[in-house]
Amino acid sequence: MSVTNKYEAHHNPIGDLVEDSIRFVWRHGVAAAATREARGPLAVSASGVHVTDADGRVYLDGLSGGSAAATLGHGRVDVADAVHAQMTTLHWVSLRTFINEPSIELGRRIAGLTDAGLQTSFFVSSGSEAVESATQLAKSYHRAKGNPERTKFLYRKTGYHGTTLVGASASDNQEFRTWFAPLAPGFVELDACYPYRRPDGMTEEEYGDACADAIEATILAEGPETIAGILAESIPAALVLVPPANYLRRLREICDRYDILWIDDEVFIGVGRTGRWFGFEHFGVTPDIVTSSKGITGGYVPLGAAIATGRVMETIYGDGAATQAKVSGHTYAAHPTACAAGLAVLDAIEKEHLLESTARIGEGMIEAFRSRYAGHPNVGDVRGKGFLIGIELVEDAGTKAPFAKQLAVGRRVMDRAMEQNFMLRATGDVITLFPALVTTQQDADDMVAATCRAIDEVLGEL
Ligand SMILES: Cc1ncc(COP(=O)(O)O)c(C=O)c1O
Repeated sequence: MSVTNKYEAHHNPIGDLVEDSIRFVWRHGVAAAATREARGPLAVSASGVHVTDADGRVYLDGLSGGSAAATLGHGRVDVADAVHAQMTTLHWVSLRTFINEPSIELGRRIAGLTDAGLQTSFFVSSGSEAVESATQLAKSYHRAKGNPERTKFLYRKTGYHGTTLVGASASDNQEFRTWFAPLAPGFVELDACYPYRRPDGMTEEEYGDACADAIEATILAEGPETIAGILAESIPAALVLVPPANYLRRLREICDRYDILWIDDEVFIGVGRTGRWFGFEHFGVTPDIVTSSKGITGGYVPLGAAIATGRVMETIYGDGAATQAKVSGHTYAAHPTACAAGLAVLDAIEKEHLLESTARIGEGMIEAFRSRYAGHPNVGDVRGKGFLIGIELVEDAGTKAPFAKQLAVGRRVMDRAMEQNFMLRATGDVITLFPALVTTQQDADDMVAATCRAIDEVLGEL
């Protein structure tokens, strides 16, 4: 048999690898048939904002690797060098036995990124663990204050907080709720704050107030004395729901009024994606606990963190007795190698002024989509912050009526883009882009063109 594929000439046949992947590797969110049809795709290398598969196709990466983690792009030698140096010096020792310098330095750096009073990082290895740790911290805070009955958490529809039992319980995703039942008790659902879908005749500000009022009403109905915290992303990433300016300020006031902790889940957008270190900075508000993952190491090594303010920590530490024991820690807590990667990532963001370029180039992309689709009958809304961009496709932009679900418009746009070697995401019919912070103006122009091409083709076929 003659081999024409360069990859197959030196490696296993792609078809065999695809079958072995289906058999031996659990792949979330993609059916086996789709994996087979797409021959994976089997990624074999990546550099900057491009990923190459085993068939030699080169994809322009509008998704920071697919799930928003590769914020510095692919193949960074500086991060690899930092990881190598740390691994060959002190790859890992348990935090129960030793403290280690990379974690101390990273914790100190994170605390100094903003003036929000963030202080102590509980380092874990993923976003889901960061969220779960944040809820444990919140419970510890209330217990330390003599309020052990405060155990409930509020969460919002359409949000995403990971796949542990806490993440699944804080989700309106019906598959999670069915397949992972019974869920954890004490999770109370709130409506999303979805400005594009606000009632007719309401200004964004009025809508922000109405959403905040609804949160307060739920708190009062549940009993504030039973509630530990609210899990809420400052900018929910899945549908790119940039809230009205007053909404988070009101949320903050309500949390203060009832001594409820705001856990700002910034796993998706934290560490630069929105053009600031954290999303909450856009709104002049301060959460009590911030979760972070993806961007903290740019996906080079898994790391996550639940970062608590000094105020929360002082309460938990109390008189200095061994209260930390009440919050769990993982084997890989404050992993020195992962923290070394985190330090290299923060260095790169600062040295290369990536917050500034993310804000500038991201804003330019949003503007480009807005002007391209102004008055378009099927583009209802273009929204975003920095390199978090959403384009909501609708059947009728005048009435905001959505497309029928069975048309699967978003999914078709996503598939079409992939056929055309461009990676974008669709959540329902909201097309989302989350490029790496290193995306240049030229890359951004290419991404805008590739996005419009996929959208226009699919809309043209309806
Ligand atoms: C806002 C948010 N929270 C939590 C998570 C869960 O993170 P992980 O997949 O690393 O467990 C994600 C993942 O996408 C996320 O976007």
